[in-house]
Amino acid sequence: MTPKTFKIKSFGCQMNVYDGERMAELLGQHGMSAAADGDDADLVVLNTCHIREKAADKAYSDVGRLRREDGWKPLIALAGCVAQAEGGEAKRRSALIDIVVGPQAYHRLPEMVAQASRGARPVDTEMPAISKFDALPARLRAAPSAFLTVQEGCDKFCTYCVVPYTRGAEISRPWDDIVAEARALVGAGAREIVLLGQNVNAWADGQRGLADLIRALARIDGLRRIRYTTSHPADMNDALIAAHGEVHKLMPYLHLPVQSGSNRILKAMNRSHTTDTYLAILDKMRAARPDIAVSGDFIVGFPGETEEDFEATLQIVDTVCYSSAYSFKYSPRPGTPAATMEDQIPREIMDDRLQRLQARINAHQLAFNRSKMGEQVEVLIERKGKLPGQMIGRSPWLQSVHVETAAEPGDIVNATLIAAGPNSMTGAERQQVAA
Ligand code: SAH
Ligand code: SF4
Ligand code: F3S
Repeated sequence: MTPKTFKIKSFGCQMNVYDGERMAELLGQHGMSAAADGDDADLVVLNTCHIREKAADKAYSDVGRLRREDGWKPLIALAGCVAQAEGGEAKRRSALIDIVVGPQAYHRLPEMVAQASRGARPVDTEMPAISKFDALPARLRAAPSAFLTVQEGCDKFCTYCVVPYTRGAEISRPWDDIVAEARALVGAGAREIVLLGQNVNAWADGQRGLADLIRALARIDGLRRIRYTTSHPADMNDALIAAHGEVHKLMPYLHLPVQSGSNRILKAMNRSHTTDTYLAILDKMRAARPDIAVSGDFIVGFPGETEEDFEATLQIVDTVCYSSAYSFKYSPRPGTPAATMEDQIPREIMDDRLQRLQARINAHQLAFNRSKMGEQVEVLIERKGKLPGQMIGRSPWLQSVHVETAAEPGDIVNATLIAAGPNSMTGAERQQVAA
């Protein structure tokens, strides 16, 4: 039977969230509609992440839970990076899976759904040279803050990471396509665009780089804010840094993962930067944009990491004073060089280091939030809060701000930051600014 309703569950990075939105639009164009909350859908797409062990296991257990007690199950499509990595093997690991579709092939989803409705179990994990983006429908709806993938794939081959294998080589979408999609998103209600890429700052079209793209997008009327993520230190160029000082719509926020504070470990990770070259980038950035909020990613327990190496990581956290940061226990990924390195770190040590690192990061996050008390900021309202009359939005530094206001999602309110918590701020509205 041909499915009429669908549900898409995205895990992992923002690029998966973007892909999930595009798949929903595509299925919508083919006459299907999103199932209401709480209803069973005829088709469930699990848009998976492969970055850490647990994420893949979770995807398989989610597949298992889709079968109801009475034995009924929806059509199940495994999408995303687990699908890419497992390919046809996924069908063997779970008999419940009907469709396996990789991140570069999901423009074929409607066709695969039709095949699966006839009892086939199609698999497509090709990475074709033609762009899937060309086969996707135009953007008709957008959240106040909308994602726009501009770059995919990774050529960096950090020794712990699966992304170069699941997402393929670095490719940049063409300039004109991106500008057209950005215009469509703004027309559909976006006030902020977050440019996405596994190495977004490696984006290029001929001689033009991300800084040029940002400057062009900043000229779109109705677009109020631009962000981009995630950047690699190796591709952080002066033009992009200068844009932070000059482009008013470019928000003062930079996600620049360092991964470790130990040069020995950075080398083993095949990160091309040292702590010094990393800190030098931030110095330049702060010269261009003194109030920039810096965020990052860390891995603890990489093979061979000593207590001394780990302390160097705590040290760089103190030096940078991150406004927020993500930290992970090292997870060996099959097929990556680090998975077979000697001196894998025992779990208890990883647990202990992660806890200490997170405590340190949280202290800096709270300090950062407190340092913004009394600031008058624009808050882009994104959604309703828990309390009546309360809305939640974002400050320029990406802090979550709770504010009592009559404003709607997509409005920008002028607020004074009056309270700081570890994870959010409270704002008091001053007067509303026309959106
Ligand atoms: N391209 C981005 C993000 C890649 S994945 C970058 O290079 O920064 C997001 C984060 O997951 C990484 O920054 C890293 O901190 C973490 N990560 C990747 N592989 C991992 C692994 N095998 N174990 C634990 N964390 C990992
Ligand atoms: Fe993974 Fe490194 Fe590429 Fe980031 S830069 S996606 S961590 S290989
Ligand atoms: Fe995960 Fe794939 Fe993104 S592995 S982090 S969903 S690129």
